[in-house]
Amino acid sequence: MLISKNINDSINEMISIELTAVKQYMAIGARFKEMGYDNIGNHFLMESSEEQNHALKIINYLIRVGAEIKFLGDKNFKQEFNNAEEMIETALKMETDYYKFQNDLMNKVKEAKDNLTENFLTWFLENQVEEINELQNLLTKMKKLGEERLFMLDQFYSKPQ
Ligand SMILES: [Fe+2]
Repeated sequence: MLISKNINDSINEMISIELTAVKQYMAIGARFKEMGYDNIGNHFLMESSEEQNHALKIINYLIRVGAEIKFLGDKNFKQEFNNAEEMIETALKMETDYYKFQNDLMNKVKEAKDNLTENFLTWFLENQVEEINELQNLLTKMKKLGEERLFMLDQFYSKPQ
């Protein structure tokens, strides 16, 4: 095995965070569609499959370095929402917490002088920034428009992003 046990454990935790995100985005996407916002709904269903790709990327990395793959339990998952803003806030918190997790792990990896994992993690950290930015932007628009004009945002999501 090319990585330490400690780092291996943290990367396994990343798998469970990604798989929880698969489910979380699926729940949010489904709820938007139930509310009649098909385009925003489809956007989040697509995000869900992106999260699955992230999990696969991690699994393939662990295989490549000869590390152990373990599926841990679900992280925080929420499916009861009072309104659309709460759904986006939930997603934003999930991604921000994950960013912090990855950043802490990056410090551990640097301390261990594990260059390969540092390189692997860099992509994830940069991707987190994009996801957080996108959600923050959506939340800002949503707050400006208000719940009753959400259909305008839904129209916006009908165009390729
Ligand atoms: Fe992800």
